[in-house]
Amino acid sequence: MTLEKSFVLLPLLALMLLVLGWAQPSLGKESPARKFQRQHMDSDSNPSNSSSYCNLMMRRRNMTKGYCKSVNTFVHNPLVDVQAICLQKNITCKNGQPNCHQSNSSIPITDCRLTGSSKYPNCAYRTSNKMRHIIVACKGKPYVPVHFDGSVEVSS
Ligand SMILES: *[C@@H]1O[C@H](CO)[C@@H](O)[C@H](O)[C@H]1NC(C)=O
Ligand SMILES: *[C@@H]1O[C@H](CO)[C@@H](O)[C@H](O)[C@H]1NC(C)=O
Ligand SMILES: *[C@@H]1O[C@H](CO)[C@@H](O)[C@H](O)[C@H]1NC(C)=O
Ligand SMILES: *[C@@H]1O[C@H](CO)[C@@H](O)[C@H](O)[C@H]1NC(C)=O
Repeated sequence: MTLEKSFVLLPLLALMLLVLGWAQPSLGKESPARKFQRQHMDSDSNPSNSSSYCNLMMRRRNMTKGYCKSVNTFVHNPLVDVQAICLQKNITCKNGQPNCHQSNSSIPITDCRLTGSSKYPNCAYRTSNKMRHIIVACKGKPYVPVHFDGSVEVSS
């Protein structure tokens, strides 16, 4: 390109990048920490004894929009207790990242799993309550849970 053209294009490009940068926060994009809370925290309810818990909660927490999320776990401990797991046993995540942490104690969770016959938009889930050591990936400052990596029955 000619010198003149680049004098016009470069400032234009810079301006576009700035505008994009400003627009991002105003879109109200959910932070990873917030997303973790929406998808995995349900401190208020005790492990639900209702078989429709997952059908209700997966919908209420927007995991049945566009498609049915196939598996998801809800954790029934106070948020501070789940955040504290970031200071507990440091282990490797399933994806090989080093920032996973396993809870010292076994805590009440509900696993939701899409039934085989379920067809979007009618997402139907099987609800199972368990006591498990949970594994979360933590990130950021403050160092908080951003991903649910799994759960194990016995601490290893
Ligand atoms: C389930 O919970 C409801 C309300 O908390 C209670 O009334 C009911 O007895 C429970 N059912 C079972 C099977 O535990
Ligand atoms: C679900 O999505 C709707 C519309 O996009 C939004 O208003 C609502 O706050 C979301 N619910 C949760 C729990 O994030
Ligand atoms: C966890 O362990 C890995 C590997 O030793 C290390 O890279 C990482 O910084 C540790 N994270 C924390 C929070 O201790
Ligand atoms: C959890 O276990 C680790 C390692 O066994 C220990 O250092 C830590 O103090 C424990 N934390 C809590 C909150 O029990």
